[in-house]
Amino acid sequence: MTQSAAPTVAFGIDIGGSGIKGAPVDLSTGELAAERLRIPTPSPSRPRAVAETVAELVDAFGVPGTTPVGLTFPAPIKHGVVPFIANLHQSWKGVDVPALMSEAIGRQVVAVNDADAAGVAEVAFGAARGAAGVVLVTTLGTGIGSALFVDGTLVPNTELGHLEIDGHDAEDRAASSARENEGLSWQEWAERLQRYYETVEMLFSPDLIVVGGGVSKKHEKFLPLLRTSAPLVPAALRNSAGIVGAAHLAAHGHR
Ligand code: BGC
Repeated sequence: MTQSAAPTVAFGIDIGGSGIKGAPVDLSTGELAAERLRIPTPSPSRPRAVAETVAELVDAFGVPGTTPVGLTFPAPIKHGVVPFIANLHQSWKGVDVPALMSEAIGRQVVAVNDADAAGVAEVAFGAARGAAGVVLVTTLGTGIGSALFVDGTLVPNTELGHLEIDGHDAEDRAASSARENEGLSWQEWAERLQRYYETVEMLFSPDLIVVGGGVSKKHEKFLPLLRTSAPLVPAALRNSAGIVGAAHLAAHGHR
């Protein structure tokens, strides 16, 4: 019996509220194998329109039919289906994402929550590589995403951005978008993040917390203002974490 060689490249797609990004990923290093391409998220961001944009990205790179394709989505994905959605069009609720996307691009697709994908990339190649115990990866963006690992194994769809803290949905107060929309200083935003991370620490006692999302490239502005008992470190992969994690999961299997 012949066994096919493991793929060395997979294609990752990151679906966000403002942009849909894609790139091929070198699976041995976790680096992008070509410059990523970004297409603005269609508005309104309905399933059909987003699926067409995903197909456009795959076509633009001429992704070979044998290359595994993984994509991230800004909502929980339970066995393929979106149970609720905060930051894209509400008509995504109940949609089977891999089925829709597989039909749009004519091949199998693995779909995973965006923070889970970013977390997988940080554990495989970045700031949480080799970390034992309970690791929490958070992404600060339009919302707050979370990925929880126990000795490297993901507990999917944790949704810790929607913890209710002081009567608010946590991400409404502490996401990076709250800082931008409300014109908060770094200090003011850090006070909200402090409240967020101390609540998360009380509930989960993580051994390591990784802070990702686009704003993590400015980590020196706010991480030094935060006090946590676990080490709090910036993500290593920054903007490409979702793409890399999705590609990694597409190649290595995902439930
Ligand atoms: C969603 C999460 C997502 C996070 C970051 C939240 O509003 O519920 O699923 O990971 O935003 O995009």
